[in-house]
Amino acid sequence: MRQLFNGIFEDSGKLLAAGSGRFFNEEIVRVGNAEYREWDPRRSKLAAAIVKGLRNVEIPADSKILYLGAAHGYTVSFLSQICSTGRIYAVEFAPRVARELVMLAGKRSNILPIIEDANQPNLYYHHLESVDIVYEDVAQRNQVEILVKNCNLFLKRGGLAMIAIKARSVDVAEKPAKIFAEAKRQLEEHFRIVDYRGLEPLQKDHAFFVCVKR
Ligand SMILES: C[S@@+](CC[C@H](N)C(=O)[O-])C[C@H]1O[C@@H](n2cnc3c(N)ncnc32)[C@H](O)[C@@H]1O
Repeated sequence: MRQLFNGIFEDSGKLLAAGSGRFFNEEIVRVGNAEYREWDPRRSKLAAAIVKGLRNVEIPADSKILYLGAAHGYTVSFLSQICSTGRIYAVEFAPRVARELVMLAGKRSNILPIIEDANQPNLYYHHLESVDIVYEDVAQRNQVEILVKNCNLFLKRGGLAMIAIKARSVDVAEKPAKIFAEAKRQLEEHFRIVDYRGLEPLQKDHAFFVCVKR
């Protein structure tokens, strides 16, 4: 087993995250007394970016993360264990998946679900503190704008902004490479980009950027 980052490992071609419990029917690997959950890069853009060789993304155990587009909490569940002494503020606006997110938060006390629109961060301003990382996976046309709004309000200077860009959410007809180039240009107006990964074939028409707030 090879450690890639804090709490994140690779073994025989599988991505594993340290932590006990099964939340999404994932495979559990036991080594001695330690338990690891298999992290599927086809279900999580962060896992896909790591498999594609992501660097510069150390996530310390005490990190506070604002996660935009949490859905039912698949990636959030792994971050909650990687940041075992930190906190995940998980924003999701679709009631059906938010219900599952709330159930997950009942099992993991460092997940705080926020059922609001990430486009309107003023609606959850009072629930938050400043954070070390803003992570976004909302699959919306104005993905970069949503990230910038939230980082301006909540991300510490020097903190990480991570975003999964879904080309088809921006324009179904345009070539993904052109959309990613435009997203890069927009991000560079606000951040210093420290890593970029295309996520094909694990996540179709997706790219992943890691940026630092200046
Ligand atoms: C691709 S899914 C996220 C998957 C999740 N990040 C994971 O890895 O498990 C995108 C989610 O973003 C949510 N979303 C889209 N726009 C949003 C917004 N403006 N505010 C909050 N959630 C939003 C959608 O409801 C959907 O659940």
